[in-house]
Amino acid sequence: CGIVGYVGPRQSQGILLAGLSRLEYRGYDSAGIAVIDGGGSLGMRKRAGKLGILRDDLKTHPLADGTTGIGHTRWATHGGPTDTNAHPHLADDDRLAVIHNGIIENYADLKAELLAEGFTFQSETDTEVAAVLLGRAYRARGGDLVAAFRDVAARLEGAFTLLAMHRDQPGLVVGARRNSPLVIGLGEGENFLASDVAAFVEHTRDALAIGQDEIVAITPEGVEVTDFDGNPVEVERFEVTWDASAADKGGWSSFMAKEVSEEPEAVANTLRGRIRDGAVTIPELDGLDDLFTGISRIIVIACGTAAYAGMTGKYALEQWARVPVDVELAHEFRYRDPVLTPDTLVVSISQSGETMDTLMAVKYAREQGAKTVSICNTQGATIPRESDAIVYTHAGPEVAVASTKAFVAQITALYLLALHIAGLRGTLSADEIAVQAHELEAVPEKIAHILATEQERIEQLAHWMGDTRSVLFLGRHVGYPIALEGALKLKEISYIHAEGFAAGELKHGPIALIEPGQPVFVIVPSPRGSAVLHPKVVSNIEEIKARGARVIAIAEEGDVAVLPSADEVLRIPLAGPLFEPLLAVVPLHIFAMGLATAKGLDVDQPRNLAKSVTVE
Ligand code: G6P
Repeated sequence: CGIVGYVGPRQSQGILLAGLSRLEYRGYDSAGIAVIDGGGSLGMRKRAGKLGILRDDLKTHPLADGTTGIGHTRWATHGGPTDTNAHPHLADDDRLAVIHNGIIENYADLKAELLAEGFTFQSETDTEVAAVLLGRAYRARGGDLVAAFRDVAARLEGAFTLLAMHRDQPGLVVGARRNSPLVIGLGEGENFLASDVAAFVEHTRDALAIGQDEIVAITPEGVEVTDFDGNPVEVERFEVTWDASAADKGGWSSFMAKEVSEEPEAVANTLRGRIRDGAVTIPELDGLDDLFTGISRIIVIACGTAAYAGMTGKYALEQWARVPVDVELAHEFRYRDPVLTPDTLVVSISQSGETMDTLMAVKYAREQGAKTVSICNTQGATIPRESDAIVYTHAGPEVAVASTKAFVAQITALYLLALHIAGLRGTLSADEIAVQAHELEAVPEKIAHILATEQERIEQLAHWMGDTRSVLFLGRHVGYPIALEGALKLKEISYIHAEGFAAGELKHGPIALIEPGQPVFVIVPSPRGSAVLHPKVVSNIEEIKARGARVIAIAEEGDVAVLPSADEVLRIPLAGPLFEPLLAVVPLHIFAMGLATAKGLDVDQPRNLAKSVTVE
């Protein structure tokens, strides 16, 4: 869910709605706002469906404006996406408005307690329980909202960011955070609270990151942060480095189209300042050599697309740094009693830095004594703050739910990390590192070349395949995670059944799926770089072709071996074997987007999903 709060001299509705539109990637099942007007009354409007529905409703039935307000965009957990279950939730005779991100795990017990006391509920949500609890505490505390928050925070279990305001205290928004994100934006005579800086970056780039288990009160004049016991705490101040236009569509038909077009820059920006004269230097890791030198094992944890970036990184980490690497889905990792020792390095990957499954796995790894490094694209996010070290990807804000530019940036960061570790451990010489670093530096231009030469053709192809019901993806070695990523992207945004397989696994089962006309994408390794694997994958193509498959090969320029059996060949520039994934994935991103567009679907906000899943 996305959360925003405002206090200041300006009318808040427009600010809240604009903020929510930048947070819609966090969920878009329903949306709502509440504002306190000068006359001391509290107005609230909430609607199921995307933000546009709320916006239209406010246009036809305006709400009295006010200079204090909170807004919410929801990804449903407890209770379906209905008007009633949307946030804000009201309590204390409709004088208190509350919004929430996360899951309150003990809400059923709390609800029973409140019901027994005679309180009533409108919705099925856990949030309303927090709201009613807060209303009761507010009364008990004689109208001290911050003190009421402390009482309530002590009773809640699970993950939450809560924001609230009370009709009797205009000019005050109070928030509490445990595990779910919350940042402060500092303005001139006005202040903001939000799940992500994107919500207020058009007003201020001056931001504060709120830590775990802290309560914040904002007024137009200032900001006060305390822990759950009421002790003042130090907060980390940072400047948002990208400007508001970076999070705008800027003429593109969708955020996804814009973000795919930014893949070259995402790689280039992630490399910037980190390769000098062939040497890899990651300034964030200065003085942290101990994290890498004594390790005997690396575990990469992530979810979704980030996990496929992790699988790709495994090949580079093992080949260059000679450390055994396991890649695990974060939500599977911590529940199976993994063996973690102080010489285990856990590398987490998360675009948002907020994915709850990944966060919990990082915390668990740390508790068990492992070392932790996170790869993350979002400043001020939670996962980097819970890790021993952080390597940022500099892909810029990614808004479309399906991850594209962040994926190539994540692989880039992993490769930099692998070269850094290889240098420290002496498994590659300086010259060998320089060769790989040089290859990395060439990637942005090669991606740009694919976009320039193949994009239109791939979109055409996607258009022709508009009524396809199933697509398979095959890859081998580093092409395998790319096949999985190609399939995931298609599922996410075009709702077509898609599966990725290791090409060698085909004969052990999946080949039974092949029937005449079945489209199969095959990622073909380079005939030069992978002389052993190339003929094997070409044989796989022949095997499926013989059974009637429609083969779309992604192959290096000049690879003629694929021509006799492939129906279509999408070309990628020459690159070393480990660098091919950064290129081969680009046609797959374009294809998924093209097919979803051909089907008339919303590529930025696919059904049922949210970009940042902040619940377990
Ligand atoms: C969600 C998104 C995926 C994303 C995954 C991990 O499931 O829908 O697109 O890959 O989360 O997100 P993260 O922010 O941790 O990279």
